[in-house]
Amino acid sequence: MSDRKVAVVTGASSGMGLATAREMARRGHDLVLSSRRPEVAADEIRSAFGVRVEAVAGGIAEPDLAARLAAAAQEMGGARALLLNHGGPPVKPMMALTDEDWSGAFETMVVGPLRVMRALVPQMQAAAGGRVLAISSFTVKAPWAGIGLSNALRAALVNALKTAALELGPEGGILVNALAPGYVETDRIRDWNDSYARQENVGVEEIRARTLATIPLRRYGTPEGYARLAAFLLSEENDYVSGQQILYDGGLVVAN
Ligand SMILES: NC(=O)c1ccc[n+]([C@@H]2O[C@H](COP(=O)([O-])OP(=O)(O)OC[C@H]3O[C@@H](n4cnc5c(N)ncnc54)[C@H](OP(=O)(O)O)[C@@H]3O)[C@@H](O)[C@H]2O)c1
Repeated sequence: MSDRKVAVVTGASSGMGLATAREMARRGHDLVLSSRRPEVAADEIRSAFGVRVEAVAGGIAEPDLAARLAAAAQEMGGARALLLNHGGPPVKPMMALTDEDWSGAFETMVVGPLRVMRALVPQMQAAAGGRVLAISSFTVKAPWAGIGLSNALRAALVNALKTAALELGPEGGILVNALAPGYVETDRIRDWNDSYARQENVGVEEIRARTLATIPLRRYGTPEGYARLAAFLLSEENDYVSGQQILYDGGLVVAN
């Protein structure tokens, strides 16, 4: 066991989850990394940063994942920070969504993340403090057509986390937040742009230009920029932000 603090990151093998895992390692945390295929990311971070990294393979909705993450974190000394992340749900219009779509996405986007949080918070309570953060989306505040599962279920998770912030703050200094990306340049957003370009029969540069025109900073966010803010919120430098959904979106959503 080392005296470094332990961070658990789900959805850690690419995009913002991977960037946040790297930033936490750069700041000297030992890591428990999880996703369906976490090994490549774990090997890369272990050799780049010289911290201890345990890879726990599994989808966030798998019922036994939470216990496996808790066991791995406990063996390293107990979790002090938790980033909840996973892939986005299927894209379908509201009238095409079935009961099975809703219940499957509910397991992945709400039940699974909350089960993981419940499994790890006792370790933070034992250490008299901790930080929980979930990756959400700007579409919680400004819903888009076609992604009803994401709009609705991320909002449910964010309000569940706000409730946890109210309940866990007084019980030992656990700060709970969500960090919502706007457009962040990851593989997911590149795939997204490609599929819109095909749908609309225009070039991908046209789709990019249309998107950039809506962002006050006129550029996409970076996984590394997201990760710096996430790592701040997951650290003790964050001594007073809790129960919030913060936007990393270049000024895209200015609504309260
Ligand atoms: N990029 C953006 O601009 C943007 C904007 C708004 C919201 N978001 C949301 O932010 C989250 C992260 O986005 P990203 O762009 O960083 O995505 P990404 O690059 O596609 O990464 C998603 C990560 O989640 C893992 N994952 C997928 N399904 C999982 C599951 N069922 N359980 C556990 N892990 C799972 C993937 O690894 P494995 O394949 O190994 O499981 C991968 O590590 C997503 O939910 C996305 O919808 C992104």
